[in-house]
Amino acid sequence: MTSHEDHDDRSGAEVLLSVQGLQKHFPVTKGLLRRQVGAVKAVDGVSFDVRKGETLGLVGESGCGKSTTGRLITRLLEPTGGKVVFEGHDITHMSASRIRPLRRDMQMIFQDPYSSLNPRHTVGAIVGAPFRIQGIKTEQGTKKAVQDILELVGLNPEHYNRYPHEFSGGQRQRIGIARTLALKPKLIIADEPVSALDVSIQAQVVNLLEDLQNELDLTYVIVAHDLSVIRHISDRVAVMYLGKIVELADRKSLYDTPMHPYTNALMSAVPIPDPARRKDRERIRLQGDVPSPLNPPSACRFHTRCWKAQEVCKTVEPPLVELAPRHQVACHFPENAPEPDRATPAATVSA
Ligand SMILES: Nc1ncnc2c1ncn2[C@@H]1O[C@H](COP(=O)(O)OP(=O)(O)OP(=O)(O)O)[C@@H](O)[C@H]1O
Ligand code: SF4
Ligand SMILES: [Mg+2]
Repeated sequence: MTSHEDHDDRSGAEVLLSVQGLQKHFPVTKGLLRRQVGAVKAVDGVSFDVRKGETLGLVGESGCGKSTTGRLITRLLEPTGGKVVFEGHDITHMSASRIRPLRRDMQMIFQDPYSSLNPRHTVGAIVGAPFRIQGIKTEQGTKKAVQDILELVGLNPEHYNRYPHEFSGGQRQRIGIARTLALKPKLIIADEPVSALDVSIQAQVVNLLEDLQNELDLTYVIVAHDLSVIRHISDRVAVMYLGKIVELADRKSLYDTPMHPYTNALMSAVPIPDPARRKDRERIRLQGDVPSPLNPPSACRFHTRCWKAQEVCKTVEPPLVELAPRHQVACHFPENAPEPDRATPAATVSA
């Protein structure tokens, strides 16, 4: 996938989305009086910036808070704490009426292309709905606009009057994407956009997202549970574990020198096509299940499953710090970390 390899470095571009210390605690209540007895700490202090034209991949196992993060950014959920700043506007607690115009600029693509499409509506009605809801009149009428978008996402514009069930899974996800694009959004949050699709179709949809990004200058946050899906499309990748970001780095840096033990474990679960490279990689198996976010482990939340865990990991939370340029990690004993004290030329040669 060469197109993205030369995707320019966006580090100088304007920040479109800034997420700062974002939290979502879902209260757990008990009894008739619905007394609060605890909280599911689904997202617990997440911070990152996304620049214009950039793709941030958000990965982690089921339940780590990826979807919740996406829903908080698009304000489908109200944050418990922290801040969401979009194009310089603090939208964290903006009222529904004030946020409506911004909704056009921020759209979400969901995992299941079928359940998010109304089976009784034609493709024309589905893709055209955003125009009607927002009261937008296009110059040549909605039908022409919808047909243009269908063409853009690789669907036959003649199929305007067909129903979702007449399309394959991959085509339905294209319909979902077409609907999202109808309002020319600036930011798209795609929540597992290809997980429900056949592996053979996944690459096509990922390529489509990539082409659309170049053509329409879109900014993406793409949520996935494994690292392979977002490998080519992401400029930067954030790895989440139990409501927190444990590692955040440029794509190349993350894949070449993963530092957090959890990232290493996720990485070793990704098949490597090249047998020469496969040989020198140890396969790490993660022990046990993800603990409950209702009662997360103390300090480093990964300590119950980490093979490098020491006493300090249970008592002192490792902060997310930049250990290499544009490479942040939250771990007391990171892998692959540059050691400035010992990085003498002699050490480099003998390594
Ligand atoms: N409305 C809710 N009320 C209570 N708990 C919730 C709610 N929504 C999500 N959770 C919990 O918050 C945690 C994070 O959920 P979330 O859906 O964000 O995870 P995810 O990373 O998207 O997982 P998956 O890969 O399975 O989609 C989970 O423990 C989930 O059960
Ligand atoms: S801080 Fe400790 S437990 Fe956590 S990932 Fe690092 S080594 Fe493992
Ligand atoms: Mg999810």
